[in-house]
Amino acid sequence: MCGIVGYVGKEQAAPILLEGLEKLEYRGYDSAGIAVLSEEKELQVKKSKGRLKVLSALTDGGRAVEGTLGVGHTRWATHGEPSDVNSHPHLSSGRRIAVVHNGIIENYVEIKEFLLAQGVCFQSETDTEVVAQLLEYYYDRSGDVMDSVYRVLHRIEGAYALGIMCRDLPDAFIAARKDAPLLLGYGQGCCFIASDVTAIIKHTRDVAYMEDGEVALVRADGIQVFDALAQPVEKEHHHVDWDVSAAEKGGYAHFMFKEIMEQPEAVRKTISPRLKGGRLCFDELKLTPEEIRALNRICIVACGSSYHVGMVGKYNLERLLRRPVDVMLASEFRYADPLVDESSLVIVISQSGETLDTMAALRQAKALGARTLAIVNVVGSSIAREADGVLYTWAGPEIAVATTKAYSTQLVLLDMLGLYFAQVLGSVTEEESARIVSELQTLPAKMETVLADTEQIKYLASQYFNHSSIFFIGRNLDYALGLEGSLKLKEISYIHSEAYAAGELKHGTISLIEDGTLVVALCSYAPLFDKSVSNIVEVKARGADIVALTGESLGEELSKTAENVLTVPDTHVILQPSLGVLPLQIFAYYVALQRGCDIDKPRNLAKSVTVE
Ligand code: AGP
Ligand code: GLU
Repeated sequence: MCGIVGYVGKEQAAPILLEGLEKLEYRGYDSAGIAVLSEEKELQVKKSKGRLKVLSALTDGGRAVEGTLGVGHTRWATHGEPSDVNSHPHLSSGRRIAVVHNGIIENYVEIKEFLLAQGVCFQSETDTEVVAQLLEYYYDRSGDVMDSVYRVLHRIEGAYALGIMCRDLPDAFIAARKDAPLLLGYGQGCCFIASDVTAIIKHTRDVAYMEDGEVALVRADGIQVFDALAQPVEKEHHHVDWDVSAAEKGGYAHFMFKEIMEQPEAVRKTISPRLKGGRLCFDELKLTPEEIRALNRICIVACGSSYHVGMVGKYNLERLLRRPVDVMLASEFRYADPLVDESSLVIVISQSGETLDTMAALRQAKALGARTLAIVNVVGSSIAREADGVLYTWAGPEIAVATTKAYSTQLVLLDMLGLYFAQVLGSVTEEESARIVSELQTLPAKMETVLADTEQIKYLASQYFNHSSIFFIGRNLDYALGLEGSLKLKEISYIHSEAYAAGELKHGTISLIEDGTLVVALCSYAPLFDKSVSNIVEVKARGADIVALTGESLGEELSKTAENVLTVPDTHVILQPSLGVLPLQIFAYYVALQRGCDIDKPRNLAKSVTVE
């Protein structure tokens, strides 16, 4: 789920590993650890529950651990509570093998029972420890590390990125992957493995992405990669051109705020390569106009905020295409025996490109013969590589667990894709199309206007941060927007919050409204403005406090009903959520700040959810 980094070279390994793990902190974790091979060929393991600073204090920033070869890990517990003993690396009983692992070994119980019957003693409750113990079990019998690794990989089921050290392999460590991210880094006289490039970018920009089933033998002077049948593989190298400072906070107190402020630029970068001379170009789309016309079903599948993008997409694509568009949670889609086939297009949306549920849904869709298209932010991520086609959002690295700029880039990209399809299908008039294109061109500047002054939102946050429950209501696109506003608020401020379709309130939820309950009423969807105002009146009559949001032209009208009105510039109705989401993100941010929450790394959450 979280992070792995490995180093072999001439430098002291531990400080490099700790620094690399720090860069992976954003992925979310509950404990951390390192294993380093000493000069005496002992596997030294240091690990602890909690933040990396605990591990750093334990090892004097790594300086207290000698050795030039090691692996490090940040854990997000799946099997066994977060604790020192359950932290990785895990050592085999004979202390000959050390293992770090991201993912889940699904058949660990059966393997553990087998090993227990052989007299092996287990230290932890984790699924991971079976890998270390089984490896030693085979190694005892064969004396060949690589052969033992293959036997283990053959026997385990589930998802894994593995970093493996063996006391008898003094100049190398081994990496393996299946359904969990892992890449190889080639430095000057040193080599690395890492869950993503941010961990090693300081040392090298020369990387190769491991594929499922591959095993790598990593030495200081190079890396040998083998496929699932132990045949050598030539890896394609990639040059990473991310700016290092792009992955740092850039002067803001939190990554989240920095990323909120980066949205106009991220959206501009996402729009501009696809909008040339006023015309939409989707060269990267591996679908011909004939194929688009032949589609009889479009299904959008994603999780969390990416799913909320899909919700907006459903409204917008149906409006533009005049065809039914479904949106489904990936975790539901995969077990729903979905009705997709060769004439369907399944669009999966994922910032990380590693979300396990989304990946499984993608595979399911492919197996059923559907065309698949991924909207992804991380180049080279698993979903990006497996989908038939990929459209990248150019949001850059997103570090805060709560997504902001990735959401905004996904949203605009899906709108553009919808418009492109509509042009191909002829379901949108030229005038309408031109209006949307012209609004797309000015969208980043309008976003800048919203972000230029956050004082009113900050003030409102100071008024309401103490509330224990906050409701978001809206109709149509505002309902989809409310889902995201509510998720943002709850994930970083821990305030209970729900989003409802405003017309649905009276069917039950309105019983929860009492004196002083805060209702964030979204009224930016102009066609249903009057209906939304009526819903405000309904909740006000039950004592609710209102923070309302709408487009500039309706602001004055709205202030006749709502005591607090936030406005964003007017734009084409389908693009309004791209502006409306900004005040909601900022509100969530300031509320969380007032409450002293760990904004960039909210409790219980991880950036990249690679477990089911
Ligand atoms: C968003 O703030 C969340 N942390 C989460 O809902 C996220 O959007 C979801 O896990 C999907 O992630 P993905 O886009 O990387 O697939
Ligand atoms: N399943 C393993 C554990 O619970 C690894 C979790 C992770 O990916 O960090 O220890």
